[in-house]
Amino acid sequence: MTIVLDGKKIAEEIQRELHEEMKDWKKCGKRLPKLAVIIVGDHTASQVYVNNKENAAKYIGFHSIVKEFPKDITEEKLLCEIDKLNQDSTVDGILVQLPLPLHMDEERVLVSIGPEKDVDGFHPLNMGHLLVGHPEKLPCTPYGIMTLLDRYQIDLEGKHAVIVGRSNIVGKPMSQLLLHQNATVTVTHSKTKNLKEITQQADILIVAIGQCEMITADFVKDGAVVVDVGMNRNSEGKLVGDVAYDDVFPKASFITPVPGGVGPMTITMLMEQTINNARIGDR
Ligand code: GUN
Repeated sequence: MTIVLDGKKIAEEIQRELHEEMKDWKKCGKRLPKLAVIIVGDHTASQVYVNNKENAAKYIGFHSIVKEFPKDITEEKLLCEIDKLNQDSTVDGILVQLPLPLHMDEERVLVSIGPEKDVDGFHPLNMGHLLVGHPEKLPCTPYGIMTLLDRYQIDLEGKHAVIVGRSNIVGKPMSQLLLHQNATVTVTHSKTKNLKEITQQADILIVAIGQCEMITADFVKDGAVVVDVGMNRNSEGKLVGDVAYDDVFPKASFITPVPGGVGPMTITMLMEQTINNARIGDR
């Protein structure tokens, strides 16, 4: 029997808990957290993500501001705007929505966010903390996946976890979090030879490659836990993952749907980290 890893349900549970906590903060007259989201250009998917983040913050009950800039804004001007948010003591979390326009140096922009306000965990300092095993801020998608696996009590120790995709946002930080839970981790990517032979060995298969339904049943071992980070539109305009869900479903022991799997967990972890920053800031 296959169990669906219901990210939407778990995310709603966590958001309800956070909502209750914010009600208590309000009652005590405590300053509410504030998240600042920066979006540059008119990337459609980014607009959707940013709206979802705003709605979640509104539901939980803390402040969220969105700063939108045209795609031809100069890097210097953007850095100046980030610096204003760094200096603003009412702002607890800063997130720059990726991807940025091609003329910008993404690394330089991410480094300019104060590491203590970096709710994405993309600052090299925070990436470094994660690498040495003492994470301070976690990239939200891997953190959301770990929380989801934990809520379904999926044991990772000694398991072979195979990650498809080596991005800074998902693949690399995911590998570290799985290692910390004593999984044996293999990271594969677009240049990997014999990909199928490797994924067939996975007890836990995490897929983040951005290729519409690329992982079919023949890539998957019987009883594997399958986590799909993909979010793509197929030729009919339907939202689908990187995993061919209906094909893989009968083989998996647990599987995330798209939508309603990893996506809502990512947003919820962002909310949690923003609140956590406010807690630390006020200590
Ligand atoms: N673009 C796609 N995923 C993410 C994410 O987790 N954070 C940011 N900042 N941008 C993204």
